Amino acid sequence: MNLAKDIENEVFRAVSKVGQEKGLSAFVIGGFVRDLILKRPSKDIDIVVLGSGLKMAEWAAKELGVKKVAYYKNFGTAAFKYNDLEVEFVGARKESYDRNSRKPIVENGSLADDQNRRDFTINALAISLNRSSFGEVIDPFDGLVDIKNKIIRTPLEPDKTYSDDPLRMLRAIRFSTQLGFKIEDESFDAIKENAKRLEIISQERITDELNKIILADQPSRGFKLLFDTQLLHEFFPEMIALHGVDKKDGKAHKDNFYHTLEVLDNISKNTDDLWLRWAAIMHDIGKPRTKRFHPKAGWTFHGHEEVGMRMTKGIFKKLKLPLDAKLKYVQKLVRLHLRPIALVNGSVTDTAVRRLLFEAGDDIDDLMTLCNADITSKNEMKVQKYRRNFENVRRKLKSVEEKDHVRNFQPPITGEEIMDIFGLKPCKTVGDLKNEIKEAILEGTIRNNYNDAYTYMLEQAEKLDIHPRKR
Ligand code: CTP
Repeated sequence: MNLAKDIENEVFRAVSKVGQEKGLSAFVIGGFVRDLILKRPSKDIDIVVLGSGLKMAEWAAKELGVKKVAYYKNFGTAAFKYNDLEVEFVGARKESYDRNSRKPIVENGSLADDQNRRDFTINALAISLNRSSFGEVIDPFDGLVDIKNKIIRTPLEPDKTYSDDPLRMLRAIRFSTQLGFKIEDESFDAIKENAKRLEIISQERITDELNKIILADQPSRGFKLLFDTQLLHEFFPEMIALHGVDKKDGKAHKDNFYHTLEVLDNISKNTDDLWLRWAAIMHDIGKPRTKRFHPKAGWTFHGHEEVGMRMTKGIFKKLKLPLDAKLKYVQKLVRLHLRPIALVNGSVTDTAVRRLLFEAGDDIDDLMTLCNADITSKNEMKVQKYRRNFENVRRKLKSVEEKDHVRNFQPPITGEEIMDIFGLKPCKTVGDLKNEIKEAILEGTIRNNYNDAYTYMLEQAEKLDIHPRKR
């Protein structure tokens, strides 16, 4: 196969020219080639050089008029940006691994050595940039056939590839999820065998791959593979605890692991936001800890949203996910995820709607997206009915918000104003009055405006025997 026409760009032409002049062979390799054949746009170009990658980078940059080249001498790599492309150069290498580390012992090698050390056949494809064979695909492991048949396969013995670098087990699942490829059976078995070896991989790298799986079109595919290979057991036991069904007196609850995956797939059709997808993963995480059986009511999970909210912090910490506003956002959605559904079931009062708007604030739309995704049932009629009722709640949220503006609630009278009106120093009474005004607005006792709030505040203060100071 020759792809000369597909790699018509200035970077490849420059490398080819310089290679010819200096007598160095160079090849595009790895993800860029795979994505080119799959017609997925890619901006990362890896170039492998038979000889010094650093020198080739320097010469190619000069040829292209690129001023800034970053040299990573320890790794023997060099990189520069050209327009929107990230170009990285490395000398062809041969690697051997020590069992207790991901860090290989590296020696100079041939192109074949370099292809041998790669994770998957589809990632070991190279395209020649040498003048005499420009565009020719070098495919020693039938990666092209695997792309056609949608197979993830290792170039060497799977056991060796995964044991050398256990991160590849996650990469296999990530590529399988992103590309919709099947992991070949032998590979799958080797991953299962080596699952425990994940312990030598840093949490950041694990989480990096996990997030890529979560951001795929159908993330459940990846989670099922993580579960079946037992990799998930290594780093996310709280999710494993969702798996399984208990039955008592003929009453069974649903399998919360597969339910969660259904919710995650549902939400992924409506959002590419990683954190909203994380909220879907976490929404029922508190269920195993709150599970009870009552002879009459059957299985219950009372308070799982609160417990789940609290668990979210520990899980984020362990997975090295951010502990900032992102965590707070996911926690909020987990805590509130039952509220819109509760509105669907009951009669929708303005008060309940105002309270929800107040608590959810600007995240109300995301909360609704989560709840909509949470409607899963085998009974299609039931799902349809729920969705219709859900639309009522949406309409109600809109009309109440237009009327009362509580979504971004700002107290109509501030604490400073209260202190000024009554001549108070900062104290509990100020907070109490402020809170009473807020409660009255949410309850619908008064409208959300200054005058109503002022009159109401005077009445409440009167009861406490507090009076406006004379001016
Ligand atoms: N590679 C590998 N083993 C790893 C990581 C990477 O063999 N653990 C090789 C593969 O040949 C891969 C190339 O290095 O194609 C580049 O790796 P990377 O940039 O991490 O991934 P890509 O394959 O380019 O895919 P993506 O950009 O989607 O991460």
